[in-house]
Order: sequence, then C-alpha cells, then structure tokens
Amino acid sequence: MGKYQIIATAAMGLEALVAKEVRSLGYNCEVENSRVTYSGDESAIARSNLWLRTADRIKIKVGEFKAFTFDELFEKTKALPWEHFLPEDAEFPVIGKSVKSKLFSVSDCQAIVKKAVVERMKKHYKRNTWFEESGALYRIEVALLKDVATITIDASGSGLHKRGYRIDQGEAPLKETLAAALVMLTNWQADRPFIDPFCGSGTIPIEAAMIGQNIAPGFNREFVSEAWKWMPEKVWEEARMEAEDLAKYDQPLDIAGTDIDHRMVRIAEGNAVEAGFGDLIKFKQMQVRDISTSKDYGVIVGNPPYGERLGDKKAVEQMYREMGQAFSKLDTWSIYIMTSNEDFEQLYGKPATKKRKLFNGFIRTDLYQYWGKRPPRNE
Ligand SMILES: C[S@@+](CC[C@H](N)C(=O)[O-])C[C@H]1O[C@@H](n2cnc3c(N)ncnc32)[C@H](O)[C@@H]1O
Repeated sequence: MGKYQIIATAAMGLEALVAKEVRSLGYNCEVENSRVTYSGDESAIARSNLWLRTADRIKIKVGEFKAFTFDELFEKTKALPWEHFLPEDAEFPVIGKSVKSKLFSVSDCQAIVKKAVVERMKKHYKRNTWFEESGALYRIEVALLKDVATITIDASGSGLHKRGYRIDQGEAPLKETLAAALVMLTNWQADRPFIDPFCGSGTIPIEAAMIGQNIAPGFNREFVSEAWKWMPEKVWEEARMEAEDLAKYDQPLDIAGTDIDHRMVRIAEGNAVEAGFGDLIKFKQMQVRDISTSKDYGVIVGNPPYGERLGDKKAVEQMYREMGQAFSKLDTWSIYIMTSNEDFEQLYGKPATKKRKLFNGFIRTDLYQYWGKRPPRNE
C-alpha cells in the first residue's frame, strides 16, 4: 500500500463540514480555504470518493512548491516522481488556474507542466517518441496561489455532486453536495420527521434519505481512479463492500418533499425512484402556507426562491410572510431556510436562533436557523 497526500476540495464555507466527514472516515486532516488535506493509502482514496457527501472532488497531491518563474515551475515539476503515478500509456491532460501569482498566464503554466511531465516520463520509460496517451485518464492540475504551485491529479472524474440519481431537474436545483451539507447542519436524525417545503427536483429529501440510511453517496457511480493501474480492483471492491455493510436499508424514514409546482413533484418522484427511495420519500404538491402537521420534533429544510429576479420580489416577500405564519405553529420543529434575501427575518416575523453564511454557487446566502424545542430525554 502506498501513502498519498489527498486533497478533498470544498466549496467556500463547507470546509469544516468536509473535515468532519474526513475525520469520521478515520483520517486526521488539515483545513485550509477550499480544501481539506490528509494522508492515506489507496483505500483512503476509494473511501473518500465513495463517502464524502459535501466535498467537490478528491485529488492526489503530487507536489507543492514556490514558483516565481517558468524555469522554476518546469524544473520543480520535472523533479516530482511522476512515474509513481503515471503509467507509460497514461492520458494526462493538464488544466490550471492562477490567483495572485507572478505566473498568471494559465495556458503557459499548463504547457510548461505538460512538458516537464513528458521530460520526466521520457527519461523513466526510456523513450524518444511521443506518448500515445491511450490509457486511463490522469488529469493533472497546476494551481497557483500567491506563487505557490500545487500540482494534483484528479481521482474523482465527474464532480462528487454527480451521484447519478438526478435524471431531471427544475430551474434552480441545488448542488447535491450543498443539499447534503444543509441536512448535516441540522443534525437531523433518522427517527425524526423531515420536510422540504420547496423540494424542486427533490435534492434535499433524497440527500436526507441517503444520510438517514447511511448510504454512501458515491455507491452508484464510477470514479476515474477505478481505472488506475496502482489502485487495485480489490481496494474498490472492499470499499464498496464496506459501504454495503454499513448501509441501513431497513431504517424507517419519515421524509416528505412538497412544492407548489406539480411538475416539480413529478420530477422529484422520478429522481427519488432513481435513487432507490421511490416508496420511502413522500412527495406532494402543496403551497408552503398550507403546511401543517400533528407530528413533533421534526426538521424543515428549505431552499425557497430568493426573489432576486425583478417582478418576483413582492410575491416572494409575501410568501415568506405566509411561511412564517404557517411555521409559527410548529414550535417543536427546527426550521432551516437558505436564502439571499436580507430581509428574511423581518418578513418571516422572527429573528433566527442562528445564521450561517453559505454560498449557493456564487450567490451569497444565509441559512436562517430556528431551533425547536428539544425532545424529552426519556421519550
Ligand atoms: C430554488 S427552487 C428549489 C430547488 C430544489 N432545492 C432542488 O434542488 O431542485 C425553489 C422551489 O420552490 C417552489 N416554490 C415557489 N413558491 C412556492 C410556494 N409558495 N410554496 C411551495 N413551493 C414554492 C418552486 O416551484 C421551486 O421548485
């Protein structure tokens, strides 16, 4: 088994949640802006891909160094042990980004890294000719931040938010990783009722169901590193077997998604069937103002329209008011609403217990949290 520096990349604001997930997989980690770094073997790479709900992707760090000139970038990249990672037939495109660095021309940085890797590989594999690059994909990234180059290989392929269940979607679907983060931030437990009153394509209820039954979010998809020569098939088999063992398919769930738009309800139902929760999540067409329940100690998580588009504002403000009135009756419930509308608390009619800044893509939002009464201990 080898030892690798692993990076789980995270959307801004979700780093602490990703770190919590990494630690619960059993790896000590360091948290920085937009990434969580830890070391682990091949099984750590497989398990991270399969299990991390809130990370964007898993990368292997090949090296990190200061680079102020193209020469430095070339020599330091060439000095890295590429032959440990790339077989002779590897396909190895190079992508890049540069922030606050002397080397700002991303296309030049990419070309130089590519050339340096080729030089190193030519020497190691004793070749004078081109590499055909006909084998598995090892996508290299050179990321410059304040003149420090971090060179990684992507081990995920499609981003981890692509769980494979969203066959259709509405207008403003949440990224699955953010939906999972919202559910995790509520500390909801599977024995409590859960409602998403703005379910759209059903992302939040489906992520809640996966969390409730401890289903690995990557269980039904493939990862680019499954084709890598140094990631033995057995490692993946064992990681998938572990996920199968840990899944609690018998865990009963009380999860509902509602939406004003009946077309969204149909889409959410289709996605839930695809995710394997066809019978478990109840979807219904309903306006938020009509939500009522006799159940106690539930959790509501919602991503309503923000009213940012001209013309929507007044209707959205009225809807927030009605939501506040409807939810005021649910005093044992905890309510979490994510919106960019800065007047939310005033419209809803109550100051939040706590607010947490979150980014929905590039939109800065707050997660307004209204904590309900705690369930009695001996119940
Ligand atoms: C931002 S989208 C939610 C997206 C969803 N989280 C997803 O991942 O697909 C907001 C949803 O709220 C619904 N909606 C708008 N007004 C509503 C209301 N008054 N009551 C219930 N749902 C409403 C819209 O139909 C839309 O599907």
